[in-house]
Amino acid sequence: MRTLESIIKQGDCLEVLQKYPDNYFDLIITSPPYADCRAKLYGGTSPDDYVEWFLPRAEQFFRVLKPAGTFVLNIKEKVVKGERHTYVIELIIELRRQGWLWTEEFIWHKKNCHPGKWPNRFRDAWERCLQFNKTRKFKMYQDAVMVPMGDWAKTRLKKLGENDVIRFNSQVGSGFGKNIANWVGRDKAYPSNVLHLATETGNRNHGATFPHDLPEWFIKLFTKEDDWILDPFVGCGTVCEVAQNLGRNSVGIDILQEYVDLARDKVNEKEMLLCEAIAPYGKNNKKRNNRLHRT
Ligand SMILES: C[S@@+](CC[C@H](N)C(=O)[O-])C[C@H]1O[C@@H](n2cnc3c(N)ncnc32)[C@H](O)[C@@H]1O
Repeated sequence: MRTLESIIKQGDCLEVLQKYPDNYFDLIITSPPYADCRAKLYGGTSPDDYVEWFLPRAEQFFRVLKPAGTFVLNIKEKVVKGERHTYVIELIIELRRQGWLWTEEFIWHKKNCHPGKWPNRFRDAWERCLQFNKTRKFKMYQDAVMVPMGDWAKTRLKKLGENDVIRFNSQVGSGFGKNIANWVGRDKAYPSNVLHLATETGNRNHGATFPHDLPEWFIKLFTKEDDWILDPFVGCGTVCEVAQNLGRNSVGIDILQEYVDLARDKVNEKEMLLCEAIAPYGKNNKKRNNRLHRT
């Protein structure tokens, strides 16, 4: 039997995090308030001031993240006066100056994005998920996110050419090498850095909710059971809900009490686990509850 905690706190993450010790969390995953986008809802920051607003919070993230932990930032620059603003690019540069390593950029392809027509651009169907680390030796559990090999294997691996049975370096000079023959007989492969996920459409209480699959993928990739996860801009609590369901502890912070209430409603602050708790989401889910004993 073990205890699982899901703690939702109200306040500005800048202040709330000051009460946490150094090197506490294994993963920080969040989508911050986007520049200006939801000013009426929770006080937006203008695109020009965004980096200055973000940096002191990122300093706290850096402090509370374990050396082998990971910070995943879901963000997308908005269009200002007909062009993409550069605050995300500027933020990446400043975060590197703060000491973060910009390890990777994942693309979240929103496969159900609304059709639309604009005079000067097409519909926006992707967002960045930027990966930052404190050190080059961070924890990563790649096998936890393996995907079915897919039909290409049936045709591509059926007849191997001479370059397929040796390690063959990329002809475009990318530095990547591959040995296709290694994949014969396997039914799973490692995924790419493009995540094809639908946006959340069912949540009317918060306009920017994560689809469960997004934090789930990163939580599986960068943590194991009983680890601690932080979402400093937790909104209606998706990250904490997913973390709990995957047997991870979490802390979620939101500045607005109404979101804190929504998030608290989704998780149990403390659970005693009798056995594995992997089941569909929602604390009112009967199937899941049968497998848990709450304190
Ligand atoms: C994009 S939303 C996050 C949505 C979340 N991923 C979800 O699935 O519901 C950003 C959230 O940050 C909160 N917020 C804005 N400024 C904050 C601050 N300084 N500290 C903590 N939360 C803040 C907002 O109230 C909002 O709910």
